[in-house]
Amino acid sequence: TGMVTIDEGYVNTGAVQSSVTFLNGEEGVLRYRGYPIEDLAANCDFVEVAYLLIYGELPSEEELVKFRGKIRRHTMLHEDLKSFYDGFPRDAHPMAILSSVVSAMSTFYQDSLDPHDPEQVEVSIHRLLAKLPTIAAFSHKKSMGQPFIYPNNNASYCENFLQMMFSVPCEDYEVDKTFVEALNMLLIVHADHEQNCSTSTVRMVGSADSNIFASISAGICALWGPLHGGANEAVVNMLTQIQNDGGDVDKYVDMAKDKDNGFRLMGFGHRVYKNFDPRATLIKTSCDKLLEKLDIDDPLFEIAQKLEKVALEDEYFVKRKLYPNVDFYSGVIYRAMGIPVEMFTVLFAIGRLPGWIAHWREMQLSPTSRICRPRQVYQGSTKREFVPLDKR
Ligand code: CMC
Repeated sequence: TGMVTIDEGYVNTGAVQSSVTFLNGEEGVLRYRGYPIEDLAANCDFVEVAYLLIYGELPSEEELVKFRGKIRRHTMLHEDLKSFYDGFPRDAHPMAILSSVVSAMSTFYQDSLDPHDPEQVEVSIHRLLAKLPTIAAFSHKKSMGQPFIYPNNNASYCENFLQMMFSVPCEDYEVDKTFVEALNMLLIVHADHEQNCSTSTVRMVGSADSNIFASISAGICALWGPLHGGANEAVVNMLTQIQNDGGDVDKYVDMAKDKDNGFRLMGFGHRVYKNFDPRATLIKTSCDKLLEKLDIDDPLFEIAQKLEKVALEDEYFVKRKLYPNVDFYSGVIYRAMGIPVEMFTVLFAIGRLPGWIAHWREMQLSPTSRICRPRQVYQGSTKREFVPLDKR
C-alpha cells in the first residue's frame, strides 16, 4: 500500500481505462466511440447513439431494427410496479420517483439480475432503455393528477415520450416534430461524458457486482445534485429569480464572485472544459433556432444571453476559465416544449442512461476491473482509553 496520495474530488485520479468517450477539455472536443457529437447530433437518432455507446459500433440497418424491436417489447410497466405511484406524495420530486422505481425494477425482474450472465444483462439493458421514459412520464402525470398514458410502440423513442407526457385521453394530441428533433438532439448530447460523478457512481456500485438496476438507480441519485445534472433545473430557477428581481444581470454576476454568500452562477463552469463546452454550443444554436421557429419570445433566454455576455467579459470568470456548460441553455428549450422545470433533470437521466449502461457493461466485461475502494489519510484521535457510560 505505502503512501496514500489525497486527491479530493478525484481531480487528477484516473480510475479506469475506458474506450467509450473521448473528451478534451482544453479544446472542447467530445466524441462517443470516436465519433464527434456534432456529427452524431446532426445525423442520428438517440437509439442509434445508445447502441453505439453500449456496443462500440454504429449499428447496421438490420442491427438497429432488431435493437429497436427489443426495446419496444419492454416499454410498458408491470401493473404492480405502476401501483407504486399511488404511494408517492403528489408533490414528490420526479428524480426521487425515478431512482426508487428503477431500484424497484430489481424486485420485478429477478430473472435478469446476474451481472455475469450476458443474456440476463442484455434483457436488463433493453428493459432499462424501454422503461425509463415510461417511468418518467408517469411521474409527471402523477404530479398533474392525470391518468397515465401508456407507451405507443409505433412512435419513435422521443415521440413516444412526449406523447406519454402530454397527451390526455379526452383530446387528440399530435407531437410537434420540432420538439421531437430538439429532444433527440438534447438526449444525444447528454448521452455520455466519461467518468463524471453519476457515471463513476454507477461504476462504483457496480464494482461490488451489484445488479444493473441498483447501479443505475444510484447513478440517478448522483445526477440529481445541483452541481451535476440538477444544474439544469437550478439554472431556470436562477433565471426566473433574476427576472423577478428586475432583470439586473450584473447584480447576480457580482454575487457569484463573492465567495461569502455561497451563490454560484448555475450552468457555468466545468471540471474538465476550460475553453468551451461543445454541448453548450450545440444547445445554444438549437435553442436560438427553436425559439425563432416557434416565434417564442422567452425573457429567460434573453436574460441567459445577457448573463453569458457579462460573465464572459468579467475578469473573475475569464481568469477561472468558467464558461456556460451543457445545462445553461437546455432548460430554455425544455421550457419552450412545455416541460415543467422539475422534469429537466429527469430528461438528463433519460439521455445519460446509455452512457451509464456502456460504462457498467465495460466494467463488467473488463478482466482487470475490481471492487472500487479508495483509501484515506486518517485525521481522527489516536488510541483513547474507554470510558464507561456512568463515567461520561
Ligand atoms: N460561479 C461562480 N464561481 C465559480 C463557478 C460558478 N458557477 N464555478 C466555479 N467557480 C469558481 C470557484 O469558486 C473556484 O474559485 P477559486 O479558484 O477562487 O476558489 C473556481 O471557480 C474553480 O471552481 P471549483 O469549484 O474548484 O471547480 P470544480 O471543478 O470543483 O467544480 C462545477 C465544477 C461544475 C461543480 C462548478 O463549476 C459549479 O459549481 N458550477 C455550477 C453548477 C453547474 O453548472 N453544474 C453543472 C456542470 S455540467 C453538467 C454536469 O456535470 O452534470
